[in-house]
Amino acid sequence: MKQRDQWGTRLGFILAAVGSAIGMGNIWRFPYMVYENGGGAFLIPYFVAVFTAGIPLLILEFGVGQKHAGSAPATFRLLKEKWAWIGWWQVLVAFVIACYYVVIIGWSFSYLKFSFNLGWGSDTSAFFFKEYLHLSSGAFDVGGIQWHILGPVALVWLTCWGVLICGVKKGIEAANKVFMPALFFMVILIMARAVTMPGAVDGLNWLFKPDFSKLGDIKVWAAAFGQVFFSLSIGFAIMLTYSSYLSDDSDINNNAFMTAFINCGFSMLAGIMIFSVLGYMAAQKGVPIQDVVSSGVGLAFVTIPQAINFMPGATFIGVLFFLSLLFAGVSSMISICEACIAGILEGFSLSRKAATTIFCLVGFLASVIFTTGSGLYVLDIVDHYINTYAVLLGGFIEVALLSWFFNLESIREHVNRTSDFLVGNWWNFCLKFFTTFVVGYMLVMKCVGDITVPYEGYPSSALGVYGWAVVAALPVIAFLFTKCDSLGRKE
Ligand code: ALA
Repeated sequence: MKQRDQWGTRLGFILAAVGSAIGMGNIWRFPYMVYENGGGAFLIPYFVAVFTAGIPLLILEFGVGQKHAGSAPATFRLLKEKWAWIGWWQVLVAFVIACYYVVIIGWSFSYLKFSFNLGWGSDTSAFFFKEYLHLSSGAFDVGGIQWHILGPVALVWLTCWGVLICGVKKGIEAANKVFMPALFFMVILIMARAVTMPGAVDGLNWLFKPDFSKLGDIKVWAAAFGQVFFSLSIGFAIMLTYSSYLSDDSDINNNAFMTAFINCGFSMLAGIMIFSVLGYMAAQKGVPIQDVVSSGVGLAFVTIPQAINFMPGATFIGVLFFLSLLFAGVSSMISICEACIAGILEGFSLSRKAATTIFCLVGFLASVIFTTGSGLYVLDIVDHYINTYAVLLGGFIEVALLSWFFNLESIREHVNRTSDFLVGNWWNFCLKFFTTFVVGYMLVMKCVGDITVPYEGYPSSALGVYGWAVVAALPVIAFLFTKCDSLGRKE
């Protein structure tokens, strides 16, 4: 039998796991999540989610992945024959995320180019929505493919293909050894500059000052848990796949804590960087910080370019910022693709080259929809539904099954066997009671909320097609894959 790929070094694995975790979720999503959920108030549920669900789940995925050394479908099949579809479901979720995630990286690529001459001009909102996206009138008004967006998107797919075809050690590990140090260096550089500018401190006050009244809002909690799952890449096959390339004696607990701390540390760095810049811009304009921020997905592509316009050394900061987005995005995109490629490669007994090529081609074609005039609407809807009813639900089902219908204690014994420090009963408690019930409750409340109040006021038909239908199709397709794959026939 062919030897399974493995990481070359422990550092290589940590950099790859951190590379997966740190991504658009930290720089593009985290700041607008914080902004939309009451500023500093968001940090409380965020850290509660990190410690009670994020880290315990990361240990769970690292432990199970390393023990079973397979792709997500193979691992779930080994845990229990009838759970195989969950593995395919997670792979499909990763596939959908890859299809829109790549487009945001594509935008970053274009913006990197614009930053050399501040090509977004003074009205950054009109530039982004009208000139760049050619945003149509609604989700069903497709508005044609925007070739200037499709180009960079194709380039990102090609880059990922080039890295992934080289395998785990020579491709993924080698790429992350370049991306991660460069990314930290650039973000620290921008942050160091940003915090010393006039007004930065007001931005930071806004970021760190909690408004306790927000803690009663279930939406804020659901957003925090969703953000933590997305940011730590848990619940959608990635960490299971990455840890399946670990050797038998790898330290699981330490690796999980390190990955989570580095990721959250980076989110805080990114938050400090963004909010200092916003504080500076508000001070320059002489308005409160709330007045300078555009909420939602536009924050990184509307507000930040506008703030950059005001800064001394604008070109340099712009290049650094969008290069950071690009590096963070590509390293995560690689992990999202690998989760799928490992599934296809093992599930259908293909070579790495064939699985990678098929996946990247299909993914490229599917991502075209997000490069059209209606792309941003579709992306916003898909991102919202996938994060709640696929990532969060995927994490919930994984935890609920493993802690209530599997011997969770045997996994704890396994992870403790090779780890420097041991996890105690608190780990079982967090997963079995806290994560299961809190996330379960949030999902129900969120679902009721989404049914009664349409997300962002989109028409129900658009939410039905791009939201509910996509979410509902995934388990069905997963079930079909389970019937067709050759995993069951291998033994
Ligand atoms: N974990 C990745 C991110 O945060 C997917 O962007």
